[in-house]
Amino acid sequence: MQKKVVVTGGTGYIGSHTLIDLIDNGFHVISIDNYMNSEPDVLDRVAAVTGVRVENHIVDLVDAAATRKVFETNPDIDGIIHFAALKSVGESVEKPWEYFHNNMNSLLNVLKCAADFNISNFIFSSSCSVYGNADELPVTENTPMQEAESPYARTKQIGEYIITDFAKAHPDFKAILLRYFNPAGAHESAKIGESPTYNASNLVPVITETAIGKREKVTVFGSDYDTRDGSCIRDYIHVMDLANAHTKALEYLMNNKNEDSCEVFNVAIGAGVSVLEAVEAFERSTNQKLNYTIGDRREGDVIAIYANLDKAAARLGWQPKRNIDDIMRTAWEWEKVRSGKV
Ligand code: WQD
Repeated sequence: MQKKVVVTGGTGYIGSHTLIDLIDNGFHVISIDNYMNSEPDVLDRVAAVTGVRVENHIVDLVDAAATRKVFETNPDIDGIIHFAALKSVGESVEKPWEYFHNNMNSLLNVLKCAADFNISNFIFSSSCSVYGNADELPVTENTPMQEAESPYARTKQIGEYIITDFAKAHPDFKAILLRYFNPAGAHESAKIGESPTYNASNLVPVITETAIGKREKVTVFGSDYDTRDGSCIRDYIHVMDLANAHTKALEYLMNNKNEDSCEVFNVAIGAGVSVLEAVEAFERSTNQKLNYTIGDRREGDVIAIYANLDKAAARLGWQPKRNIDDIMRTAWEWEKVRSGKV
């Protein structure tokens, strides 16, 4: 019997790639997404890769009645993966009310449906931003949360606490909090990838948009940090490896392998890559010269963060299969498709 999974934010960048991995692993998936940060044609792209047309319910999850209706009309759901959230670090600083209103109310409405419809397996899209500027590297799941650097990061911290307490109060409910590091890259087919509906600010799309000619240059935000080459260090994770972490986490819960009602896992490659090294990786793996300059530091940037992956490997049986060169190569292949260059 196919397991049925509701994926909120299923037409977003990580959500849509996760639909592909779930389908490849035999799940029946249903999406809830109001296209706030995505285009409807993503589902055509998912169908082109998997042969499956995923049903999407265009619902604002802040609307409790509309959210409930989706679960009323789709009985026998075995699990929920909750991606849907506003996720721009910079925008959250300017619009904290919108971020808390949207991200917290949508989470609460989905949790209420989980309780009312006896859905016991729940995966939450959390973030390495909960660690802030960690004192020790690499971070493990036991590294304490630091002061959030942005309202976005704080919505992830609060979300983790809400789910932890909810799981304690509902004996049959079990949750996994996946702390993503820097998702990037695209599906190997180049039929789907990151399609920012807004002006991208993340490094990898800025690199590919510069290389394709949509931008004049990449500005490296600071080269005077206390790191091996002076630029900030991050742990870039290929979006398809990240997608598979969700499938593995769901299977872990569905097979009752969890030890606690709410468990945390870092999802990353487990290696730090600096901005300058990322630029070199792009040039090396695509054979494209990149126009970049060194600029001022960006407010709120964490100097360095990367993860220890032992727990996910040991407990979930999950390992990343792709590296920074795969990220840059697949991101570039997708950029050429997205820009109509192929
Ligand atoms: C990466 C590095 C920049 C653009 C993201 C998400 C956040 C969270 C963690 C999921 C930084 C540098 C960037 C540019 C640059 N993910 N940079 N020039 O800030 O680590 O956060 O991942 O929850 O939601 O936003 O990602 O790609 O913006 O920056 O030098 O034009 O690249 O300074 O060191 P960040 P990013």
